[in-house]
Amino acid sequence: MKNDELEIDKIYDKTAKKYRDERSSKGTIHNTYIANPAIRTMLQDVRDKRLLDIGCGYGEDLKYFYNLGAEVIGIELNGELINLAKQDPELKDVEIFQGSIYSLNFKKSFDICLANLVLDQVKDLDQALREVNKVLKNGGIFVFSVAHPLNCATNNYQEQLSDYFTTRKGYFHPTSMTCSIPYYYRNFEDYSKTFFNAGFFIKKIVEPKPLPEAKTIFLEKFERFSKLPDILIFELIKYKSFNNGSDNLHPGD
Ligand SMILES: C[S@@+](CC[C@H](N)C(=O)[O-])C[C@H]1O[C@@H](n2cnc3c(N)ncnc32)[C@H](O)[C@@H]1O
Repeated sequence: MKNDELEIDKIYDKTAKKYRDERSSKGTIHNTYIANPAIRTMLQDVRDKRLLDIGCGYGEDLKYFYNLGAEVIGIELNGELINLAKQDPELKDVEIFQGSIYSLNFKKSFDICLANLVLDQVKDLDQALREVNKVLKNGGIFVFSVAHPLNCATNNYQEQLSDYFTTRKGYFHPTSMTCSIPYYYRNFEDYSKTFFNAGFFIKKIVEPKPLPEAKTIFLEKFERFSKLPDILIFELIKYKSFNNGSDNLHPGD
């Protein structure tokens, strides 16, 4: 594992259960009321499509898209989160591999790759995107959500100084976790440079507002994120292939 992965892996070893429990009970405004509903609106036509959920966590999106009729496969860095996913009876027929976005090796290619709130935990975006490119069909799409740069830059994620321009590593403390977690801050220009070099065009950008139901549960955040975006979602389309050959293929695939 790379250093960024080791750091994340240790954090989820400690927090996986609390993270799952909070998200699957009260939910969080970021996942439950902003990112997930927007992604579900973007990805409605998934029946019989092959979908790879990268950084699938305890499997919430896997379950959702499996129930919509997609052929889903999950890949997740952290073993504790995979154990939680495997305890879920609704995921008993779903393949979930322990592995990294830096090394995606599957025999078959996918129509859709999804990384929901994963890439801001990944240091080398360029390598990650090239790997995603490798497993997507030509014309396939990659949908991913990240913390919105405007929110990180102005809310500071507990930093001292607002700074939109500087690419950097920071830490923030989500309510669903017992400790701070690193994130890799990038602005729009950083993202767009990386896409083209990794063989992707931007098909769509979505800056979702919270669902109205969030108001009664998270009033302050609801008001903030109804004015200033919390989450940024890109839908990329693969326009060019990088096929470096595959080794260490995931079994069964
Ligand atoms: C905020 S959680 C989101 C989980 C899931 N996508 C969801 O929406 O419920 C971020 C996830 O990305 C995973 N992750 C972080 N770095 C990764 C990497 N290099 N390769 C694969 N997964 C990674 C973490 O282990 C964690 O499960």
